[in-house]
Amino acid sequence: MANDNTELTYLQQQQQTRHQIEENISRAFAPEDDGLRNALTSARAAGLPEIQISPIQGKLLQVLAAACNAHKILEIGALGGYSGIWLARSLPEGGRMITLEISPEHAAVVRNSFEKAGVSDRTEVRVGRALDLLPHLASEAPFDLVFIDADKPPYPQYLDWAMRLTRPGSIIVADNCIRGGKAFLPSQDEVITGVAELNRRIASDPRLASLLLAMDEDYTDGFAIAVVKY
Ligand code: DHB
Ligand code: MG
Repeated sequence: MANDNTELTYLQQQQQTRHQIEENISRAFAPEDDGLRNALTSARAAGLPEIQISPIQGKLLQVLAAACNAHKILEIGALGGYSGIWLARSLPEGGRMITLEISPEHAAVVRNSFEKAGVSDRTEVRVGRALDLLPHLASEAPFDLVFIDADKPPYPQYLDWAMRLTRPGSIIVADNCIRGGKAFLPSQDEVITGVAELNRRIASDPRLASLLLAMDEDYTDGFAIAVVKY
């Protein structure tokens, strides 16, 4: 019988192994270039929280974009532009990405990072509350891929808009839908209830084929992925 100390060591070893596996996958499939690294250092220098997606998640977004032949991408919540660079780089010639960002200061960082990453030509950063900007996107729909990664309480409303602004075959991805498992427990916290409601809806909507994927290195958070069915 292992005592508590050896048990902890074993868990730590398991953790490190998972971390190393993630690093090896990242190195092989999702290496960061100067454009992505610059986006991280610029965001940090501007005091933005370091809560961007991982390289593996960035690469998954590109795989999903390829799967739905994405020419038009909508991102709700730009943060420092890191995920936006992964997304914009998945676009073919003539493709476009619109990213919505509430903070003008963050938007300036994002535009600069897009420029340095060489994706300014195909991207547009729109500044304002997403719920104010989304109704104006109807004329630019349908989007082939929508990535939701903004404030969590309105996640169900963002999903409603994503459904309106997509087509059969489009893919909708939402970040942070597990929250350390809190998304499956009763909660009064509107951050948790927001993602929990999005999970409930995508799990039961017959128009969608959906899955929640635990995919950060300690399995505490991840993407909700929903394909709009034909
Ligand atoms: C938070 C938001 C995110 O989009 C994220 O990826 C991690 C954390 C947050 O608001 O705490
Ligand atoms: Mg996030």
